[in-house]
Amino acid sequence: MSTADKLARLRQLRVDARLGGGEGRIEQQHERGKLTARERLELLLDDDSFGELDALVTHRTTEFGLDDERYLGDGVVTGHGTIDGRTVFVYAQDFTVFGGSLSEAHAEKICKVMDLAMETGAPIIGLADSGGARIQEGVVSLGGYAEIFLRNTLASGVVPQISVVLGPCAGGAVYSPAITDFTVMVDGSSYMFVTGPTVVKTVTHEEIDLEGLGGARVHNEVSGVAHFLAPGEPQALELTRRIVGYLPSNNVDLPPRAGEWQPPDRAGDALDSLIPDSAQRSYDMHQVVRGIVDAGSFTEVHEHFARNVICGLARIEGRPVGIVAQQPEVLAGVLDIDASDKAGRFVRFCDCFNIPLVTLVDVPGFLPGVDQEHRGIIRHGAKLLYAYSEATVPKLTVIIRKAYGGAYDVMSSKHIGGDLNFAWPTAEIAVMGVDGAVEIIFRDRIADAADGDAEREQLVAEYQERFANPYVAAARGYVDEVILPSETRARLAAGLTVLEGKRRAVPARKHGNIPL
Ligand code: HXC
Repeated sequence: MSTADKLARLRQLRVDARLGGGEGRIEQQHERGKLTARERLELLLDDDSFGELDALVTHRTTEFGLDDERYLGDGVVTGHGTIDGRTVFVYAQDFTVFGGSLSEAHAEKICKVMDLAMETGAPIIGLADSGGARIQEGVVSLGGYAEIFLRNTLASGVVPQISVVLGPCAGGAVYSPAITDFTVMVDGSSYMFVTGPTVVKTVTHEEIDLEGLGGARVHNEVSGVAHFLAPGEPQALELTRRIVGYLPSNNVDLPPRAGEWQPPDRAGDALDSLIPDSAQRSYDMHQVVRGIVDAGSFTEVHEHFARNVICGLARIEGRPVGIVAQQPEVLAGVLDIDASDKAGRFVRFCDCFNIPLVTLVDVPGFLPGVDQEHRGIIRHGAKLLYAYSEATVPKLTVIIRKAYGGAYDVMSSKHIGGDLNFAWPTAEIAVMGVDGAVEIIFRDRIADAADGDAEREQLVAEYQERFANPYVAAARGYVDEVILPSETRARLAAGLTVLEGKRRAVPARKHGNIPL
């Protein structure tokens, strides 16, 4: 064979590999409103940056006539590329080949890029679109999944891992995205479940369709399995690029500081008049966030889940930060089970990847009630307390209004390692709300008074004056400085600068035992 023929052979192999399961199946994929694996990678990565690996891998199965049906690449496109010039490793399952199902060879390809990501300290992004274990391969395929799960676990906290679910992700396969840092889903075309509608009907007699069981909305709003909801595939991939932009490539690097930034969307002065006079009235904490962070820099995580707490990535003078804030507009910003889980996981994520935490506190406490107690609010609330206590990244706290009871301690208080704790003059730092406190400590006095209501009113006013303010805490140094709302951004920006070199040692141990 001449050299020209040899080169032509490779070119032909590449053409074949690019076709995946063939033109017919690519057409079917498009008819479903879905992109192919390669089209998705083109949107995800910088132009012409994709370097493919293992394009010529095929499966080794001979069972069920599969020796006659082999496709180059075996249902997954893998390799490396760049996002905003920074290296990432990627894999994209190709539904046109055996429904993107996972064979031994397919799993080996994914493991190879995961190993490279770990060894070079670069993020790994997986685009899932798969019918699950390749049924014809049996246990070999299950072993392949386990190899991926092990790597997801070992990579956790070492390199950022993002899963983008762009089709089915069923059975045990869901546990790979579940271990990764973030899961992005597309409204109407991606779904995740451990057992599908048919099995559910057989076992529990419940009738439900794919969307209702494990669609993008269910996992973003109800289960909290997914962190981001995108209206379509291009938006999901654009969002993934945006998320990567906040993150360091690995746990040793610092997150990348943006070279240019804009002042906040909302003028700082507007914050001075934001808090209502009455503690019973709410306001939108997003307005505080917008008054503090660089314009357009906020990306909310878990936007649709446990909305009583807000978590998100943002920048202050170009520096990435993780924002955790109560939302007084939803359940008065109370901490319940889901909010504790959501914020606890986000705090740990930021701590893994050297992203400073900015905590904005307006919390009336943990949610009372039989349901919450019986479902383990103690265990779940403890996760958030544990997460903040163990976090060694710079921790900056601003008490906006209420900081009551145990929730005061939990929300990045000075006592559990807050580095810079500010309070607005509107802060109320107390064991509990004024009305409840007066009712308990002055019960007899109110009962014995000639005019109980007038007595109560008087006592509430006195208690409010003495305790519902930031100055008792400031007098003890539990609050480092009481600041005007309009000064918040400048104080946080200066704080991030001085804390950049923060080092805090933790006792040597194998790992802690977070209350799961
Ligand atoms: C082999 C598969 C496959 C699989 C799909 N295909 N899933 N081949 N192994 N797991 C093939 C189909 O036979 C079909 O090939 C092609 O992919 C496209 O599939 P369709 O069914 O035509 O597509 P669609 O109607 O969109 O349905 C998609 C689907 C469905 C919902 C994913 O294919 C499905 O239910 N597949 C089986 C899912 C499943 O039970 N997987 C095992 C789960 S257990 P042809 O040639 O006919 O076009 C599991 C354990 C993991 O994964 C454990 C990890 C620990």
